[in-house]
Amino acid sequence: MDVVITGASRGIGRALALELASPERRLLLVARDAGRLAEVESAVRERGGEARCVPGDLSTLSGAEALGAALAGQVRPGATLVHNAGIWPTQREIGPDGLERAFVVNFLAPMRMQAPLLDGQHLARCLVVGAGLMALGKVHADKTPIGADFSRWRTYCTTKLCFAVATRDIAARYPSVDFLVMHPGVVRTDLGVAPGLLGALVGLTKRLWEAPEICAARLGRVLARERWSPPGEARWMVEEAERPWPRVADGDATRAVVRALVLA
Ligand SMILES: NC(=O)c1ccc[n+]([C@@H]2O[C@H](COP(=O)([O-])OP(=O)(O)OC[C@H]3O[C@@H](n4cnc5c(N)ncnc54)[C@H](OP(=O)(O)O)[C@@H]3O)[C@@H](O)[C@H]2O)c1
Repeated sequence: MDVVITGASRGIGRALALELASPERRLLLVARDAGRLAEVESAVRERGGEARCVPGDLSTLSGAEALGAALAGQVRPGATLVHNAGIWPTQREIGPDGLERAFVVNFLAPMRMQAPLLDGQHLARCLVVGAGLMALGKVHADKTPIGADFSRWRTYCTTKLCFAVATRDIAARYPSVDFLVMHPGVVRTDLGVAPGLLGALVGLTKRLWEAPEICAARLGRVLARERWSPPGEARWMVEEAERPWPRVADGDATRAVVRALVLA
């Protein structure tokens, strides 16, 4: 069985790859840093698992499409896709598509990447590593894509909200695929690392957060479940407990804006 893990070079994704290392699974490891991916691949092999690196960049739409095509050419039917790559942007950056960076990496690019995998019927399951902070997100049709509403706190929440909400629509379109959006835990990783005093304070706080390995074991238990959601739906889970969708992810207004952004 194939498992595609995006953001497998560091943090939660790397720990998940090691957690899932097994002769019964082939892991397809995705991230930009080919050197780090190769290190993860060797570590998986040392544990008796099988892995291959599929380096790629989710910060541009063309990069996402190239990655989707590369994966579609390699993945075997019945695969699981774990959308784990993500960023916490600390400043507004506009990429070559004219779009705010986190809006692309956390939302539009994974949507583009997965399209050929869903249309080509390569996937049996799709796990979106979301964030409980999406409840603080606020999406604006005109401002969010270009970061005109950029905030170093809220943009992360908003882009995670967009992908979660869009996944609910995608689940309705592909009822043969089992979808889940989950908050993985509060984990000591590089996410949102920033220079300066604030960065140092966040770094100190992070020492109290759980290790990526604890989170990876949790994800492993969730992945081992036989079923996550009824056909045509995507459920929301906080760590290992299913929860009602946060109000903002359930509201017709947010859902309509996100739908329009996907089609734009
Ligand atoms: N840490 C937490 O407490 C926490 C809480 C809730 C949700 N999450 C979610 O968990 C996921 C993993 O986060 P983490 O904490 O493990 O963060 P991390 O340590 O910063 O790892 C992020 C991963 O994403 C990859 N990535 C970043 N930009 C990319 C790009 N343009 N193209 C391809 N891959 C890219 C990175 O690889 P390269 O740099 O090599 O590309 C890296 O492997 C994220 O979706 C995050 O939102 C984390």
